[in-house]
Amino acid sequence: MTTMSETSVERPIPDHSVVPPVWGRITNINVDRGEGSWLITTSGDRYLDYSSGIGVTNTGHAHPRVVAAVQAQAAKLLHGQQNIVYHEPGLRLYDRLSKLMPGGPWGAFLSNSGAEAVEAAVKLARVATGRPVIISFRGGFHGRTAQTMALTTAKDVYRAAFEPLPGSVYHTKFPYCYQAAGGGHAPDANCTCDWEAELDLLFHQVIYPSKVAAIIVEPVQGEGGYIVPPPTFLPRLREITRQHGILLIADEVQTGFGRTGEMFAVQHWGVDPDILVMAKGIASGMPLSGILARQEVLAAFAPGTHGGTYGGNVVSCAAALATLDVIEDEDLIANARARGAQLAGGLRELQADHPVLGDVRGLGCMVAMELVKPGVGDGRSPDADLAKRVIAGALERRLIVLSAGSYGNVSRIIPPLVTTADEVDRALSILEDSLRAAGA
Ligand SMILES: Cc1ncc(COP(=O)(O)O)c(C=O)c1O
Repeated sequence: MTTMSETSVERPIPDHSVVPPVWGRITNINVDRGEGSWLITTSGDRYLDYSSGIGVTNTGHAHPRVVAAVQAQAAKLLHGQQNIVYHEPGLRLYDRLSKLMPGGPWGAFLSNSGAEAVEAAVKLARVATGRPVIISFRGGFHGRTAQTMALTTAKDVYRAAFEPLPGSVYHTKFPYCYQAAGGGHAPDANCTCDWEAELDLLFHQVIYPSKVAAIIVEPVQGEGGYIVPPPTFLPRLREITRQHGILLIADEVQTGFGRTGEMFAVQHWGVDPDILVMAKGIASGMPLSGILARQEVLAAFAPGTHGGTYGGNVVSCAAALATLDVIEDEDLIANARARGAQLAGGLRELQADHPVLGDVRGLGCMVAMELVKPGVGDGRSPDADLAKRVIAGALERRLIVLSAGSYGNVSRIIPPLVTTADEVDRALSILEDSLRAAGA
């Protein structure tokens, strides 16, 4: 018989082939630990992590206050199931989350992953309105479970192999100003994107508004390419949904917890959704997600109609409380604005020498560059191959950035909100070198 230490430490580490290929790979890094903006490999190499583990580590890797909170809680209780007991971190977190946003009054529900929280939002919207239909936006990403796949159209790979998908879900147009038909433009008040006409058409061709339970929207589209809508979009969507008694669900899984330079992105436009979906940045990497819903909406969830064994895990709740403390005490939302502006400004300067940088956009520390073929068509044709080479070049230079966009030609840059001005300068210089090395 082997002892615990023999099984876990002394046996050789299996090679990468034990991980199934469904986890499409972004790097082959063997990570040992993380510190702030950095990942450190088992051989001691340091990578500047501007993926933040796909928008999760807003407080940086292994923030000492979050780690201390996790350690202290883990030593006391690992699992305090929500149907069975109350625990202090959970009670404190429910209360604190419900006070994070103006408006309301809000109540919270806690679960584990982003998709699971979107599922909760959809179930709640249907039961609260008694209506069947959900509308989402083309280019949106809401997860990989059956229901959330049906809502997702960011890329075919996320859904196309899994038909049939749950029905009574329809998709409408998101205002993608740079790729607007007839010419790209800034996402400003003069935006000519016809998203409202498309939604109106949907209401006339496909579904009565009175059958629609909710419209779900990412305030800034994430996987779809970090697309910032014009300032009129969300306020107008709010008016339209109110007019028809449709609930507005803001999917803030990627935009939440300071990422865009506000606690939640809807706050940039002063919009109160009925339900707001949270995950990723909520607990600095511990699995936790949830929704905020107006209390009278949340009341429609009768006991037992929704839940889950692990939702609101006590250690994750402790991590979330420490995460919120760090965001507040270290003024990370202001830093997200400053560092995001530095990063986007630096990339815009690069546009002069690199016309392949068709668009540089973002909000706070959610920044992207869209790579195009300047000599082809009207100059906005996607260049996914170049995006791949630039991202690979950055990785060779030890900067981790990710791709996005339906054509894979967007590189999204997601620094942790603790990142410094020096780190942003370093990332900019690596991205410039990577563009040059890619022949751009
Ligand atoms: C906007 C948005 N919603 C939902 C999800 C799904 O979250 P999870 O991967 O935790 O299920 C994601 C994940 O990237 C997301 O970006």
